[in-house]
Amino acid sequence: MAVRLNLLSLRRLHMPASPPPSVLVMSAGSVPGFAVLQALRADGRLTLLAADMNPRSVGFRLAHENFVVPRADAPEFVPRVLEICRSRGAGYVFPIIDEELPVFAEQAAFFKSHGVTVIGNTAETVRITKDKYAFFKRCQELGLLTPRTYLPGAPELEEASFPLLIKPSRGRGSANVYRIENKKELAFFSSYVPDAIIQDFVEGAEYTIDVLTDLKGELICALPKVRIEVKAGMQVKGRTVGDPLLVEYARKVSRLFDLTPRVNIQCIRRGEEIFLIEINPKFPASLPLTVKAGLNLPLLLLQLYQGQPIPDPSRGLVFDLLMLRTWQEFFVADGREPQGNA
Ligand SMILES: Nc1ncnc2c1ncn2[C@@H]1O[C@H](COP(=O)(O)OP(=O)(O)O)[C@@H](O)[C@H]1O
Ligand SMILES: [Mg+2]
Repeated sequence: MAVRLNLLSLRRLHMPASPPPSVLVMSAGSVPGFAVLQALRADGRLTLLAADMNPRSVGFRLAHENFVVPRADAPEFVPRVLEICRSRGAGYVFPIIDEELPVFAEQAAFFKSHGVTVIGNTAETVRITKDKYAFFKRCQELGLLTPRTYLPGAPELEEASFPLLIKPSRGRGSANVYRIENKKELAFFSSYVPDAIIQDFVEGAEYTIDVLTDLKGELICALPKVRIEVKAGMQVKGRTVGDPLLVEYARKVSRLFDLTPRVNIQCIRRGEEIFLIEINPKFPASLPLTVKAGLNLPLLLLQLYQGQPIPDPSRGLVFDLLMLRTWQEFFVADGREPQGNA
């Protein structure tokens, strides 16, 4: 509470006279989309617009106005999003899910030319982080420790020691990720997992670090969270960690990869060694923990893009904050008709 009051009072000090903006949040039915809307509601002056291709999206319960949009790969997607922004005077759009990230990254300049700022990462960041094998190669070039990675059938696999781990190079949400104990399993999963890569299995504590940089890429704040329990690729139990080593690690990784303005870094710590597993250029499903711990990433990003000074969020962060998650239900009276404006 103290942290929130602090942020609000600082924001009030720096708020220009212009009216509070309207903001469009995509994929309102997804876990991170819902979390972004919830985080933005901390500033009651914002007008929140929500979009999703599913007219029964739970995030539609949180916004002032809702819009049904086509799939992100449809030709009508970009014109439709722009039309929503222009008709409602929305100056900012938050992309949320993987399917949208490349579209918004590639069209950011186009949106900008129409007065709409995309609050997302660069096309280069989206590209290099999407393909896990290309990402591994890049880590090697940059001298960053990452699990040794092989393509199926690589001769070096003969000498690799078990356990190994197999996953799709373009996967997400831990889908098709398997630990492999022996040659027989390796042969089976190599043909079962599409587009597979194989890695040394790293035993250790797994962290996700939420990172906010300024628009030049300098770290503003990094908040590590230990993943205590994960279901379907999402943190259902997690805890914030006040570890300066992980913060410095996030600073180093952000600089090396030129990451702006926010990412989520996944790594595994084994003793003093930190293995980089993945960089996700999107809001994590565990965003509510980040926000509750004092780092309201969506609001801070909005301030950043509005050209407002950012108060140093690091000072008010709450560490050792444990998040326990469950389902949450919304009941819609007379809910037979889909919600949202077509
Ligand atoms: N080399 C590895 N060693 C041990 N665990 C791993 C390794 N690679 C991935 N994992 C585990 O699998 C999960 C999913 O892998 P990740 O590379 O993050 O793919 P996804 O895109 O599906 O999230 C990670 O969160 C981690 O728990
Ligand atoms: Mg991951």
